[in-house]
Amino acid sequence: MSILRVEDLTRTYSSGGRDLTVLHGVSFAIEPGDTFSIVGPSGSGKTTLLGLCAGLDRATSGSVYLNDIRLDTLNEDQRAAIRNQYVGFIFQNFQLLPTLTALENVMVPLELRGEKGAKQTAQSLLERVGLGQRGHHYPTQLSGGEQQRVSLARAFANRPKILFADEPTGNLDTDTSATVIDLLFELNREAGTTLVLVTHDLDLAAKTNRIIRIKGGTMANG
Ligand SMILES: Nc1ncnc2c1ncn2[C@@H]1O[C@H](COP(=O)(O)OP(=O)(O)O)[C@@H](O)[C@H]1O
Ligand SMILES: [Mg+2]
Repeated sequence: MSILRVEDLTRTYSSGGRDLTVLHGVSFAIEPGDTFSIVGPSGSGKTTLLGLCAGLDRATSGSVYLNDIRLDTLNEDQRAAIRNQYVGFIFQNFQLLPTLTALENVMVPLELRGEKGAKQTAQSLLERVGLGQRGHHYPTQLSGGEQQRVSLARAFANRPKILFADEPTGNLDTDTSATVIDLLFELNREAGTTLVLVTHDLDLAAKTNRIIRIKGGTMANG
């Protein structure tokens, strides 16, 4: 069984009375434990595709099966529940909640699941990413690299089956990027998580088992 299966996915945005189709019939499947990159130029539809795969957005046509559950038949609450159960997400701009401390940010997915010992689990995850002493700091008190390490801790908190990372080093300098990427791949290996990575960095993409190229909303090869 594939952990993620995408069939003939299209996405059309409507704005100002005009339709813009940004994905044209994309299909692929990912097996559990696989590591997978999606590469392509800016504007080619990578973020749109990832949002559909993670159940953050709905396709115009086609279907997405996550862990064999068909996402497009679910309503927003049902998709949120599936995300919390199966999915971790890392964004280019970190997307930590600004009013919560680092520790509280990592606790959010655990508390949503009603897990006992959320604080201790979050603390040990922060230690794992080298930020055990920074739990009481707010996102604005952390550097970009530190914020991304907090979001790594948050993404792994609910032991996701699949992790989506959208240009996770896009806002970081070269040295900081290398640290974040090493940590991402280490945590991923330890947890045996399936990884779907969007990047335009071909060296980074080469670290994954498979690469698909997307251009103008169409897959170039699989
Ligand atoms: N909400 C939206 N409404 C209208 N157009 C959008 C929206 N989101 C993205 N687009 C357009 O869809 C295309 C693909 O965007 P995106 O998926 O973000 O590409 P990438 O991540 O590869 O840079 C772009 O032309 C972008 O302007
Ligand atoms: Mg993008």
